[in-house]
Amino acid sequence: MDRERGWTARATRVTLLCGIAVLGGLLLSGCGFNGHQSTLAPLGPVAERQKQVFMVTVWVTLGIFATVGSFLLYCILKFYHKGEITPDTPLPEQGHGDALTEIALILVSVALVGVIAVPTLKGIFYMWTVPKNENVLTIHVYAHQWWWEFEYPKQDLETANEFAIPAGRPVKFILTSRDVIHSFWLPRLGGKMDVIPGQTNVFWLQADPRAEGRLNHTTWRVEDGGVLYGQCAEFCGESHAFMLFRALVLNSHDFHDWMKHEKAAAVISPQVKAGYKVFMANRCSICHTIRGGNAYGEVGPDLTHVGSRLLVGGLTNTPAHLREWLSDPNAVKPGDLMWKAGYKAFKIHLTHKDVDNLASFLTSLK
Ligand code: CUA
Repeated sequence: MDRERGWTARATRVTLLCGIAVLGGLLLSGCGFNGHQSTLAPLGPVAERQKQVFMVTVWVTLGIFATVGSFLLYCILKFYHKGEITPDTPLPEQGHGDALTEIALILVSVALVGVIAVPTLKGIFYMWTVPKNENVLTIHVYAHQWWWEFEYPKQDLETANEFAIPAGRPVKFILTSRDVIHSFWLPRLGGKMDVIPGQTNVFWLQADPRAEGRLNHTTWRVEDGGVLYGQCAEFCGESHAFMLFRALVLNSHDFHDWMKHEKAAAVISPQVKAGYKVFMANRCSICHTIRGGNAYGEVGPDLTHVGSRLLVGGLTNTPAHLREWLSDPNAVKPGDLMWKAGYKAFKIHLTHKDVDNLASFLTSLK
């Protein structure tokens, strides 16, 4: 009977262990070392530095784990009571600590905290100290629920949800929020940095030349790598998960071309005039700017070159996604202002044809 119970207990334990192993395996299968948002595959000096700090922490904690684990294992094996335990079995010899060991352990712990703290603090100051270099490019970052506004103050240019940077040049980011607290995170270059209303935070990032892509001068999109994935990393409301952005890494020549193209006004071709009419008739221009069109709104993203962008409404910018976004913004990005302050407030109802025309018009704004 007892033996049977022992078997059941052992079977339960084995099942539990297998369950944990399978679950752990499943969780780990979600991890990658080379993904679009992997901090373990840095593409710039700040991310490289942050990875080093992370690895120091990993090695120190692994060392602690191995040491404590070995002692535990040693004790389990050495002091394991062989044979049956009855109420009369005497307790093993009890120890009550050893002052010298305890002091030594405290000192070792403090030393290990120091080993982690020194590179961490140095890393933090490294990220805060923008290189004193005439080459530094400045970008203002304004976070909104739930999109990113990027401004190049010297070049007098504004973009939304994506910005280009030249490889090998330090970029100074000056961050502030228009509403709640967000967090700017571009994992392969570095971060995160909190984006706080009423406060400006400054740090710098730089992309290695190996992160560079090529600018397609027809679609004005970046190809062959060169697109780095960014994400808001602080829960900022119901559509926080859709608060994405992209950094385009280019060589200085392509960067110059990109800048020139972005600064140019939109070209509204006669074929998409119907869509432009839908845009104006539904008062989209109250919130959006289209340079070269009759739209000067400053609440939402600048749409002058929206057709060349990689994202729209937190989705990949394809004609199908664009139509989805335009027909029901609240379904795509719940709680979005375009729905709350636009569609709902103005009672905007777009027909299928309106949506098609509007999407064609916006897509044409390369
Ligand atoms: Cu913005 Cu999360």
